[in-house]
Amino acid sequence: MSVQTVAWITSLFFMLLITVVFGVVTLNASKERVPYDPIKKKWYKARKFYATMLVVFLFAMTIHTLRDLPYEMPVYGQGKEATVVDVEAMQFGWNMSQTEFKVGEPIEFDVTSKDVNHGFGIYNEDNQMLAQTQAMPGYTNKVYITFDKPGTYEVLCLEYCGLGHHLMTGKIVVKD
Ligand code: CUA
Repeated sequence: MSVQTVAWITSLFFMLLITVVFGVVTLNASKERVPYDPIKKKWYKARKFYATMLVVFLFAMTIHTLRDLPYEMPVYGQGKEATVVDVEAMQFGWNMSQTEFKVGEPIEFDVTSKDVNHGFGIYNEDNQMLAQTQAMPGYTNKVYITFDKPGTYEVLCLEYCGLGHHLMTGKIVVKD
């Protein structure tokens, strides 16, 4: 099932749930007068409880999701030295110090730009993006990748950088 399908089914489910709860509450609303203060007290307590739970939960989630920082560290080929490749973006092309690699070879692309901001994106033959980072003048952004299949990969610019933006393509060849 696609993410979109899951998303709209989930949304629909919760919308229905809210409608049902709202309906039940509305239909069962009592006309009888009830003293308000004890209810208020009770719900203040509940509110405090749920707020505390929420803070604890979010705190735990934050720690859990930030544990792996920095996210860009090499995923495969750990322990092996990465091949460092200098990438310089310019209007309208890519200057790469190396474009041929081996399957399983960890690669570190050090990406910068000569002129304006560009986006460095690596795509496989099915046009799926495998890795990307910004190419910015004055900065070097690192992106790590280890190709696990031989083939020809395409480098595309991900940020509109002028009239020749669509011409900013490059090629990476990965051999067995
Ligand atoms: Cu470089 Cu778009």
